Amino acid sequence: MAKAKSTVFFCQSCGYESTKWMGQCPACHEWNSFVEEPVAPSKSAGAGRGIGSGGIRGAAVPQKLKEIDMTSAPRTSTQIHELDRVLGGGIVAGSMVLVGGDPGIGKSTLLLQVCQHLSNADKKVLYVSGEESLQQIKMRAERMGEFGDNLELLCETNLDSIREAIEISKPNIVIIDSIQTMYNEAVNSAPGSVSQVRESTGVLLQIAKSSATSIFIVGHVTKEGVVAGPRVLEHMVDTVLYFEGDRYASYRILRAVKNRFGSTNEIGVFEMQKDGLHEVANPSEYMLEGKPEGASGSVVACSMEGTRPILIEIQALVCESSLAFPRRTTDGADLNRVNLLIAVLEKRLGLHLGHSDAYVNIAGGIRLREPAVDLGIVAALISSDKDIVISDKTIVFGEVGLSGEVRAVNMAKNRVQEAQKLGFDTVIVPEVSRKSIGKVEGINIIGVRTVRDLYHVLVG
Ligand code: TYD
Ligand code: MG
Repeated sequence: MAKAKSTVFFCQSCGYESTKWMGQCPACHEWNSFVEEPVAPSKSAGAGRGIGSGGIRGAAVPQKLKEIDMTSAPRTSTQIHELDRVLGGGIVAGSMVLVGGDPGIGKSTLLLQVCQHLSNADKKVLYVSGEESLQQIKMRAERMGEFGDNLELLCETNLDSIREAIEISKPNIVIIDSIQTMYNEAVNSAPGSVSQVRESTGVLLQIAKSSATSIFIVGHVTKEGVVAGPRVLEHMVDTVLYFEGDRYASYRILRAVKNRFGSTNEIGVFEMQKDGLHEVANPSEYMLEGKPEGASGSVVACSMEGTRPILIEIQALVCESSLAFPRRTTDGADLNRVNLLIAVLEKRLGLHLGHSDAYVNIAGGIRLREPAVDLGIVAALISSDKDIVISDKTIVFGEVGLSGEVRAVNMAKNRVQEAQKLGFDTVIVPEVSRKSIGKVEGINIIGVRTVRDLYHVLVG
């Protein structure tokens, strides 16, 4: 019999496993990402399974849905309203939350603030840091104000020691900052490698589910914007939150990309100040701050982020190109989508954009993927190309199809109400959504069927 191989190769970017080295990963197409790692011993290979079975292994007993006790999964409020919303109403006991984001965006700050609020609310919290010393954490904490007595800190990277510490102090909430610095002695590869991160998360998951401790883990992201190391991490945890926003500006957006206990795409908006992160209760106002008045190429659109409508400014700049291949760049919007919309404008409106550079920018550092911003992008492009100004009191939303038709979007009424709240007087919406909106006081609702209709409304 052939001897079993003791090493395998992992793609460091997506976690793809292979018995031999490859130059390009067949799963994520990353080049040169394979690294040889020892095979994890089988005793930990099943980490994460058998949740809730606990104790001696016997026959598993299924339970009736009706008999399951709901009171055993209560939620704890973090006292940070924006975070609670993103989590779907608070921290669920025994859940595991992954917080990802660029370095320096504020992950450690946010989680230390969670510790602050919970320890003040008499919850036992353990903050485990593999990155900063106790003194550094204390320095950060001093800028944030008062902390309760129930917060314990631990500088440790060995998972066995962490497990013991959790067993001894029995905290309600544990913070692991960051998963890439943790290591499990049972696995021979270096901290931060795919098998280490995966096994460490497996061990933490077992702790979380068996002791009803809620665990937050911090994960670094790569330059491509995914959690460094394995995608598998995202599958294992209950909730994945991403911090986005411009590092050089003060606002930060926390987005739920996966949530077993709430809706996804919910966002929380924060502002980084010298004493930590502050909540931004009205993000629309914030996003529209600094909008230029009377400038062409600028329009306000509305995007639903989870259950909340957010008004944002879309800017476009269309100008004659001196290049053989005109330049198209976007910031915050999807480049392929913008290219598609430009093609629709060329074909359905006869606009000549083939020799023009086009830049589209979503102000505020927020990334928008909702198709409802299509019509806003189209309006901004037309406005810039024709050099006409769209009124500051107008918002635009709707999805645009390939034949130039403007399609319905969901929750149209909520969007119009948000516009009304912020003092807008005109909304341009898909004609098909008009009925669902009905009448809204003080708002002139203009329905458009195609991009040509939109052109007539804007240009005349
Ligand atoms: P941090 O939470 O350390 O980022 P991460 O853990 O995601 O790497 O955030 C650090 C940044 O935030 C740093 O650039 C300093 C800034 N900051 C403030 O502006 N005010 C504060 O009160 C704190 C604690 C940090
Ligand atoms: Mg940090």
